[in-house]
Amino acid sequence: EKGVYPYYMLKEIDEQPNVMRKLSKKYLDENGTPVIDEKLLDVMKNSDRIYIVGAGTSYHAGLVGKKQLETLTGIPTEVHVASEFAYEKPIFSKKPFFLFLSQSGETADSRQVLVNVNKDHYPSLTITNVANSTLSRESDFTLLLDAGPEISVASTKAYTAQIALEAILAKALGEHLGDQRAQDFDLKAQLSLVAQGMQTIVDEKDKIDEISQDYFVNATQAFYIGRGIDYTVSLEAALKLKEISYVHSEGFASGELKHGTIALIEDGTPVIGIITQGFTAGLTRSNLMETAARGAKTLTIVRKSLAQDDDTFVIPDVDELLTPLLSVIPAQLLAYYTSLNKGLNVDLPRNLAKSVTVE
Ligand code: F6R
Repeated sequence: EKGVYPYYMLKEIDEQPNVMRKLSKKYLDENGTPVIDEKLLDVMKNSDRIYIVGAGTSYHAGLVGKKQLETLTGIPTEVHVASEFAYEKPIFSKKPFFLFLSQSGETADSRQVLVNVNKDHYPSLTITNVANSTLSRESDFTLLLDAGPEISVASTKAYTAQIALEAILAKALGEHLGDQRAQDFDLKAQLSLVAQGMQTIVDEKDKIDEISQDYFVNATQAFYIGRGIDYTVSLEAALKLKEISYVHSEGFASGELKHGTIALIEDGTPVIGIITQGFTAGLTRSNLMETAARGAKTLTIVRKSLAQDDDTFVIPDVDELLTPLLSVIPAQLLAYYTSLNKGLNVDLPRNLAKSVTVE
């Protein structure tokens, strides 16, 4: 029930701090040690490469998972769009492991990959929000997001839940492999900081509503830019905006602008820089200035320790592997308010369905 909320999407955005707390409670014990099936960790430990498969927002969550898994386990990890993977099979390593990400557990594109993986008898895990869903039943292992039903077509809490659970899995596997960074990673404390941080951002709703009215409602195009993990969030941020507000938006690697995209910048085009990683912050800031010099209205989503006076959204500091959990929230809210302020049906955007069960 959406109760006092005008749309499920806003309710689901607001639920994210609780989803973080629930995941932490379920998958980390009092000492912060991950509670993950040892059999799963043994199988993953024996693999020489992890292949993450997903569609849309779940694919974007996989891009963050790659960074977390590689950093905490050292196992090379690739991320694939399900509909591409099914018909353009990549070259497999000797001992591949497959990780499926799917909120619904019913996405036909992802299932098609799993059917082939099972034919070849390769091991697999599904991370999903729906127990007993097709992908869960057909893969060897399942980890549940327990985020509660996600009703709005635009995925929000499933994205952040997937990223948090991937971090838990990466820590568990890293510890299993004896990785020092994984052992030192205080994920329990970090997820508690994340939950608090999410709360402070959702409490700033009114400011985001205003920015939406000032710069996005009448925009014909908008861009998110970032580097590394921030680039992956810019893809998700742009998807949210395009699918529910119909503003044509794209996420770009900020260094790529000058290789073509900057030609699109017009007077007033909103460009939002996502800046959460110390070693690339300066570079993205200069890329933003280059767009401003061509007339762009520049905005920023910046972590506190990197913030300057004129930044638009300052998000609390958390571990660099978890910043997407916070940097995505202003973008979710901006998409929500732009859709709302345009008088659109936020939960049911045109041409889309919640669960895509055809290829
Ligand atoms: C975007 C969105 C879609 C889904 C995609 C995969 O907001 O909801 O891009 O993420 O259709 O769905 P699942 O995760 O159910 O496999």
